[in-house]
Amino acid sequence: MRLAGKSAIITGAARGIGRAFAEAYVREGARVAIADIDSARARKSAEEIGPSAIAVPLDVTDQASIDKAVSVAAEAFGQIDILINNAAVFSAAPVTEINRDDYERVFAINVSGSLFMMQAVARHMIANGVRGKIINMASQAGRRGEALVAVYCASKAAIISLTQSAGLNLIENGINVNAIAPGVVDGEHWDGVDAFFAKYENKAPGQKKKEVGAAVPFGRMGVADDLTGMAIFLATAEADYVVAQTYNVDGGQWMS
Ligand SMILES: NC(=O)c1ccc[n+]([C@@H]2O[C@H](COP(=O)([O-])OP(=O)(O)OC[C@H]3O[C@@H](n4cnc5c(N)ncnc54)[C@H](O)[C@@H]3O)[C@@H](O)[C@H]2O)c1
Repeated sequence: MRLAGKSAIITGAARGIGRAFAEAYVREGARVAIADIDSARARKSAEEIGPSAIAVPLDVTDQASIDKAVSVAAEAFGQIDILINNAAVFSAAPVTEINRDDYERVFAINVSGSLFMMQAVARHMIANGVRGKIINMASQAGRRGEALVAVYCASKAAIISLTQSAGLNLIENGINVNAIAPGVVDGEHWDGVDAFFAKYENKAPGQKKKEVGAAVPFGRMGVADDLTGMAIFLATAEADYVVAQTYNVDGGQWMS
């Protein structure tokens, strides 16, 4: 029960990695707000997780929606101790085919969404004297570019940078900001990635997943539960002296 008495808002937690974080946090004694644009699925996930989870509608591209979600979670729990900025979308295309609307959509969700969630939750924490924890979801895609994934990679590099700046700024208020950089994590997100590479690299469905899994030093793709240990640690007092860092949790893919 390492998070007993704590409350968290986790964006994009209706499914995938965010949902695994919500389940793990509840197992550790926390209450969680599953804040997602997919309200129906967020409600279903909250019901399945149980009474310590609530669903909160959230579109991270909409400032009014951010403000509302933070105030609903704060009212439900009394205060917010932890934010996990997990909502994101993937996008890929050769540079010659990148489309401006798609670029703006990816940056609005992945980058601006994370920044303005951090801002709203940090304001709440400071106003309430909460020495809180903020965890951003970066990616190995933020560590280096990839030929067909320019926009998503750039958005995740921006998350690593924002984690550094916000981490240095907010530690003055006792708020720790850190990030997790996963490698390749199987799930619905990667079903989409696999379909993209099937199209652009002329692969059979499932082939790209097999290849990336075999290339991981650990020997397989990750699963969402591989990431929960780090997400719990970064939310505890044991991580009080950890500031502005991005941790690779990727089976040995990247060293930095
Ligand atoms: N799966 C991987 O291999 C992998 C690898 C590295 C990093 N990551 C990162 O981990 C995080 C979770 O990934 P995942 O695989 O669980 O993704 P996912 O696509 O399964 O889940 C993303 C969630 O975000 C929600 N969302 C999308 N737009 C939103 C918006 N505007 N407002 C609020 N919610 C919104 C979706 O409804 C969905 O529930 C993401 O930040 C992703 O970039 C994933």
